[in-house]
Amino acid sequence: MGVNKKTALVLGATGLIGKALVKTLSENGYYQKVHLLVRRPIEIESDICEVHIVDFDELHKYHELFQVTDVFCCLGTTIKAAKTKEAFRKVDYEYPIEAAKLAKENGTEKYLIVSSMGADTKSLFFYSRVKGEVEETLSNLDIPSLHIFRPSLLLGKREEFRLGEKLAEKASGVLNKIMIGPMRPYRGIQARKVAAAMAVVAQSNKKGKHIYLSHEIDSMVGFSV
Ligand SMILES: NC(=O)c1ccc[n+]([C@@H]2O[C@H](COP(=O)([O-])OP(=O)(O)OC[C@H]3O[C@@H](n4cnc5c(N)ncnc54)[C@H](OP(=O)(O)O)[C@@H]3O)[C@@H](O)[C@H]2O)c1
Repeated sequence: MGVNKKTALVLGATGLIGKALVKTLSENGYYQKVHLLVRRPIEIESDICEVHIVDFDELHKYHELFQVTDVFCCLGTTIKAAKTKEAFRKVDYEYPIEAAKLAKENGTEKYLIVSSMGADTKSLFFYSRVKGEVEETLSNLDIPSLHIFRPSLLLGKREEFRLGEKLAEKASGVLNKIMIGPMRPYRGIQARKVAAAMAVVAQSNKKGKHIYLSHEIDSMVGFSV
């Protein structure tokens, strides 16, 4: 596939990672079209991005939009925002899985998803368990080229105020400096770094399943935190 011939679809384009990713994909010159599936109107300054307001409970209705080379999933919510475990699971498990099935049916080459550090089907924590489950189900779908990113605490400017994450972000300014050696994987990471790493991996020819831990994502891209 030549430069400027690829097409992409992004889920979660309005999020911290998603926004940075859309900017990168719009500017890196590899894509001729990027479809953004969102649930509310957004302003976007890009000639190649096309915004589609969709009902995420009915993703199959938009299956033709999944005829792209790369699908990026940056969806996610919090228990606080979702209010129930079921609603959380919808966003962090059901939508990504439905999207992956549609991508596979349409012959998409790559599926790239943001999971999380600690993703584990056997975790005591609901959040980490759901992340583990989404990874496991994706692995069983036999997607030709599956890329799972497991960042630690995301750093960056959010529209929404999240007290816990804000405090953790402040602490990570100090902690990141002393988290060396075996502690390095636990350092906070800039959301835009995760987005940049996703864009880099999307240009690789790697087949099969690949998992990227936070410190690996961190060292994949050049700019500093
Ligand atoms: N926060 C952290 O420190 C952290 C650490 C490790 C991993 N992660 C994971 O990284 C991923 C991306 O995180 P982020 O902080 O960039 O996410 P974010 O800023 O919270 O954005 C989440 C995206 O998902 C969309 N979304 C949420 N609920 C939805 C719903 N019910 N229907 C449709 N779309 C919905 C949001 O759309 P709207 O803008 O319309 O709400 C937004 O585009 C998530 O999977 C998260 O679990 C986060």
